[in-house]
Amino acid sequence: MQEKIEHIRKEFQQDLIQASSSKLADQLKVKYLGKKGVVQELMLQLKEASKELRPLLGKEINILKEEITALCEQLVKRLHEQEEWQRMEVEKLDVTLPGRRSFHGRKHPIYLLRDQILSVLSSMGFSIQYGPDLDSDYYNYEGLNFPPDHPARDMQDTFYITEAYLLRSHTSNTQLRVMEAHKPPIRIAAPGTVYRNETVSARSHVFFHQVEGMYINEGVSFADLFATLKEFFQKLFCKPVELRFRPSYFPFVEPGVEVDVRCTSCAGAGCRLCKQTGWLEVAGAGMVHPNVLQNGGIDPEVYSGYAWGMGIERLAMTLYGVKDIRMFTENDLRFLSQF
Ligand code: PHE
Repeated sequence: MQEKIEHIRKEFQQDLIQASSSKLADQLKVKYLGKKGVVQELMLQLKEASKELRPLLGKEINILKEEITALCEQLVKRLHEQEEWQRMEVEKLDVTLPGRRSFHGRKHPIYLLRDQILSVLSSMGFSIQYGPDLDSDYYNYEGLNFPPDHPARDMQDTFYITEAYLLRSHTSNTQLRVMEAHKPPIRIAAPGTVYRNETVSARSHVFFHQVEGMYINEGVSFADLFATLKEFFQKLFCKPVELRFRPSYFPFVEPGVEVDVRCTSCAGAGCRLCKQTGWLEVAGAGMVHPNVLQNGGIDPEVYSGYAWGMGIERLAMTLYGVKDIRMFTENDLRFLSQF
């Protein structure tokens, strides 16, 4: 029996040398240490040995088993490492290959521009206020000095929800709310979505975005409005701008004006962007009407103020050369991913 053990030890050593892959190493383990393996066989044969020899032989078999187990483990480990290295040699990584682009969401161009507008206005001392999208006729029209028969109130322009409630047609609906809640000086910027019952075309949509600016204090003049708008547009466009005011009518301001800037594309020479006029229309503005101040609980004898409102889509179209307002709502990634 002892000889047999010795013989197996030698045989194993030879097998060990020949096991040159982890697959062969696994087979080797099964052959010697498996349930029906050589070592187990020896154990069974132990029964046949004499009582006196059995403990000694058992010990020897155990030693052999431990030797084989340790050597097998070493072998498997070494071969695994070797094979890993070989695999890495073959599978070379090309670090110069372009990576896979991952898709990141981003802000919508209208919101990008809105944030830019608000950050410029914040830097000029305007605090940000929000008004409701669904509002009463009072805040959107009546309180803002709109005569009952004003054409803007017509069903054609306004989405009425009930007779008294509507989707706001401009961010001017925040004006009275702010006046009711605060005492002058008031200096606010109010961004928001506005709704108009218009035919959708390249230039107009049923909903778009505006930012309203308003300043009320003692002795606020038209010159303040002019200076503020000039500074605002210069900061927004990041270059000197030339402004022009044209008389216009809005019931809640007096006087009222349309604000134009010298065309940013042709510097006034005339181009497609400014439709050969040399000017771009950027805002409606004016001095807050005394009736509106009164409605807001502010004494028009003591205070005066200015307000202006601008369409973000209109500005974005100008700044980015977008020719169709519908592009902003079509969700075409080829368009959106350019911003
Ligand atoms: N609310 C006006 C509009 O939507 C713009 C405006 C705001 C005009 C403030 C004057 C003063 O057209």
